Amino acid sequence: MPESPAQIHEMQSLVESMHAKYKMLDEGEVATYIPELSKANPDDFGVCLVTADGRVFESGDCDRPFTIQSISKPFTFGMVIDELGHDKVFQHVDVEPSGDAFNAIELQRGSNRPHNPMVNAGAIAVTALLHAEHGDRALAHMLERFSTIAGRDLTIDQAVYESERRTGHRNRAIAHLLLNFGIVYEEAEAALDLYFKQCSILVTCRDLAMMAATLANMGCHPLTGKTGLGVNCVKDVLSVMFTCGMYDYSGQWAYRVGVPAKSGVAGGVVAVVNRQLGIGTYSPRLDRFGNSRRGIEVCSDLAQRLGLHVFDCLNIGSGYLDTVL
Ligand code: DON
Repeated sequence: MPESPAQIHEMQSLVESMHAKYKMLDEGEVATYIPELSKANPDDFGVCLVTADGRVFESGDCDRPFTIQSISKPFTFGMVIDELGHDKVFQHVDVEPSGDAFNAIELQRGSNRPHNPMVNAGAIAVTALLHAEHGDRALAHMLERFSTIAGRDLTIDQAVYESERRTGHRNRAIAHLLLNFGIVYEEAEAALDLYFKQCSILVTCRDLAMMAATLANMGCHPLTGKTGLGVNCVKDVLSVMFTCGMYDYSGQWAYRVGVPAKSGVAGGVVAVVNRQLGIGTYSPRLDRFGNSRRGIEVCSDLAQRLGLHVFDCLNIGSGYLDTVL
């Protein structure tokens, strides 16, 4: 980790150079299938890095709120593993990459479980478990735990929630398919409503980097010292992010970037360098997989420059950044 003023300066310059370089990239489209998301400014762009001991390096629009969308999925998955245990959770969702789009209407042959908790079907199954466990208090409970992971109080964006509730027919179909196969229980509509609210939690690019840094720091928020997720479930969360977090781009991502990550259709990306760093980016221009175009390039470039890829021969774990900065 950067220690001296020169190293800190070098890290900040790197983040600024990433922002300046990829600001030029204007490929990709803002999501419109949730009508409210189409109001995003396509040029918004933020890059933030938070070290596992809480130092922040950022550039661009790091304070601008946007909805977390699918980046909520690894955290709700962590919550159910934490609260209900592996055995119960794996009765409802598997951990196999699907190779399909995030909103595919499909379940695993034989078990009828969703392929993994990062695609919509799996995430809805996970959220239904939280709803079954906490009932009417589920949203408050989720917001409390997400707030601990982020290190500040989070709220939901009512307009985005209502927009998705009105138009989320595909997710409604998925929820009812899960109900049909007994993967979610009778309150499928209430669980779906909770899922829409979870996707509408407002975050900033800095929040995302902090949440990623909490994962990098074994579930403990680097600045508040509070436990956001139990240490045992962090490994599960990072494994599924590594294999499934970028949907049908996950293989390419593992090859190019090589760290656990998750994207959201509002334009956020989180990436976790285990025991070292949390990365958050925000840019609403998406590629055809629903991943932020600039987010992918920034993470890929950072991974190359800092040797972050988990299999990079230079990556010798938590001491690596010490040796280069
Ligand atoms: O369920 C949906 O379609 C959205 N609320 C979230 C999808 C999403 O973020 C996919 N990620 N890139």
